[in-house]
Amino acid sequence: MAELHRQLHAHAHSYYVLDEPSIPDAAYDRLFNELQALEAQYPELLTPDSPTQRVGGKALDQFASVRHQVPMLSIRTETDTEATGAQNFDTRVRKELGLNEGDPPVDYVAELKFDGLAMSLRYEGGVLVQAATRGDGESGEDVTQNIRTIKQIPLRLPEDAPAVLEVRGEVYMRRDDFEALNERQRAKIAQGMKGEKTFVNPRNAAAGAVRQLDPAIAAQRPLSFFAYGLGDITAADAGGPAFETHFELLQALKKWGFPVADQTRIAQAAPELIAYHQLIGQTRQSLPFDIDGVVYKVNSLALQKQLGFVTREPRWAVAHKYPAQEQLTTVLSIDVQVGRTGKLTPVAKLAPVFVGGVTVTNATLHNEDEARRKDVRVGDTVVVRRAGDVIPEVVSVLPDKRVPGAEIFTMPRVCPVCGSSAVREEVNGEVMADYRCTGGLFCAAQRKEAILHFAHRRAVEVDGLGDKLVEQLVDANIIRTLPDLYKLGLTALAHLDRMADKSAMNLLDALEKSKQTTLPRFVFGLGIRHVGEATAKALARHFGKLDDIMAATEEQLVGVSDVGPIVAKSLRTFFDQAHNREVVEQLRACGVTWEEGEPAAAAPQPLLGKTFVITGTLPTLSRDQAKDMVEAAGGKVAGSVSKKTDYVVAGADAGSKLIKAQELGLAVIDEARLLTLVGASAD
Ligand code: IVH
Repeated sequence: MAELHRQLHAHAHSYYVLDEPSIPDAAYDRLFNELQALEAQYPELLTPDSPTQRVGGKALDQFASVRHQVPMLSIRTETDTEATGAQNFDTRVRKELGLNEGDPPVDYVAELKFDGLAMSLRYEGGVLVQAATRGDGESGEDVTQNIRTIKQIPLRLPEDAPAVLEVRGEVYMRRDDFEALNERQRAKIAQGMKGEKTFVNPRNAAAGAVRQLDPAIAAQRPLSFFAYGLGDITAADAGGPAFETHFELLQALKKWGFPVADQTRIAQAAPELIAYHQLIGQTRQSLPFDIDGVVYKVNSLALQKQLGFVTREPRWAVAHKYPAQEQLTTVLSIDVQVGRTGKLTPVAKLAPVFVGGVTVTNATLHNEDEARRKDVRVGDTVVVRRAGDVIPEVVSVLPDKRVPGAEIFTMPRVCPVCGSSAVREEVNGEVMADYRCTGGLFCAAQRKEAILHFAHRRAVEVDGLGDKLVEQLVDANIIRTLPDLYKLGLTALAHLDRMADKSAMNLLDALEKSKQTTLPRFVFGLGIRHVGEATAKALARHFGKLDDIMAATEEQLVGVSDVGPIVAKSLRTFFDQAHNREVVEQLRACGVTWEEGEPAAAAPQPLLGKTFVITGTLPTLSRDQAKDMVEAAGGKVAGSVSKKTDYVVAGADAGSKLIKAQELGLAVIDEARLLTLVGASAD
């Protein structure tokens, strides 16, 4: 049985402390079962330090009070989160030690400041006899039953450990363990289990587990431990170890089986402390657990003794924090913002809090599902997190602080900006997470984008109407919908920044010119979701007249080549909005015209299903003209050469695309051959 103890302990240490499993889980379980069987057979040989005895004991009514043999001190916190915090500490230590500028640098140990709970573990004769919380520093609570469930904490120490040993360290919960725990908690709540709740953060979850009166429940809360110091220990003259430095002491703890953080470093003088603070600050996101700072400790135990204490804090240690990444605040309202593409995003407006180094007043809730999953409501007290450069987010809600009558958040069914209906798209039978405003170019939020799109070279083309100008026109409320473009006058334009009379005149000319357009350009210019240039052309060809496109049912629309159910639905939604129909009417009233045609009785499509890439300068056609021709003949034009390309049309100075086409052995043709393919003649 002793041998099984030894083996099980060694394997558990490899697994939980070193993170290097030494045997498969099943083999461990076999040894464990064997020991359990022996213990059942010989109950008199069962000892409390047996690996089978981690979870045991009854639920308590309350925790017993424990007086600490050596008080559990706290450490002074350097309030300055900048590099000067480290400098200040080194300066203070040197002053206290009476060191002058010429004297040698002081050695420190730099450690992580774990965000958990301080714990004192007392071993007598190598056996864990007591685990106590810090309490007021003089006495704490006996939480031994719960702490025994932490697999990283040895129940028995190796032979060479001192007769009395008090290990001080931090009990914490890893972030992944925390997430998994909350996941389980959510499942329990969903099943209607009473009294279950989710936890706000790993620290709270750890604190709750440690103070859990029923050890069976504590055992289900996955805790971890890091050792960072000593309390009581057998004196050197009574056979105990004689350490000279703090670092040595940490190495001994490691050797006796306690987890000590890998990031622990010896650092000399202020510059190395500063470097450590910065390095850990940059990498803390990738640690598997939360820290809220780093701790610097004078390495020499003799110097520690010399420095001594002020009230309850040692002069030889300091905590150097990072700006907190999480704070509590309240939700003032939940606004719905409309993005450039019409996406509706719920955003929690928060009472301002300083978190992660900035003042945060907004946090995205991403979408309705996410807002519901977290169940964020107006008036709620929430945990806001801003880690690194990541945008602030609401981590969780404190349900206990919910004001009565707070209502579940629902996404508005109309766009808060323009009042058009907001819909959740369905793609292949799957409902998408995002709501979108169907207002399109009527919606102010989408207006700039819509106007730029309308004015695009391949849409109705308004030369000189760039984004700076559109921005000004929309912001000054001069343009609200597309038809307003054609109501612009010289006076309004001349008032804009960087707008000389000449450029204003040019713009008006360009607008005038744009009125004479084509049906595909116009349809493309409306900026209907999923309706690209090729689709607009196909629609124009198929229907001939705008009114027929606008009146077509989804079934009729899917009859058009290049139009699938998603596009058909999008077209229908767009033209079903009265605002959009009105915009079209007004544009026509302003004089925007095009030649309407007859519905194409299946125009010949000799290039149907063929993909082209056009590269280099063609002798007579512009790139756009060539593209139009290919598309009119049913072909597609792609931007890059691949195995799927059928023809590469190469002109003068064709470069890498031509080389690639040759490598792939594709058909390379010139303009004349293209014209033959589409059925036009070269002259
Ligand atoms: S040393 C005499 N080292 O921070 C020095 N404390 O007030 C005693 N903490 O709640 C503490 N990481 O639990 C020390 N590497 C570390 C620490 C650490 C976290 C906690 C400690 C206590 C607080 C100090």
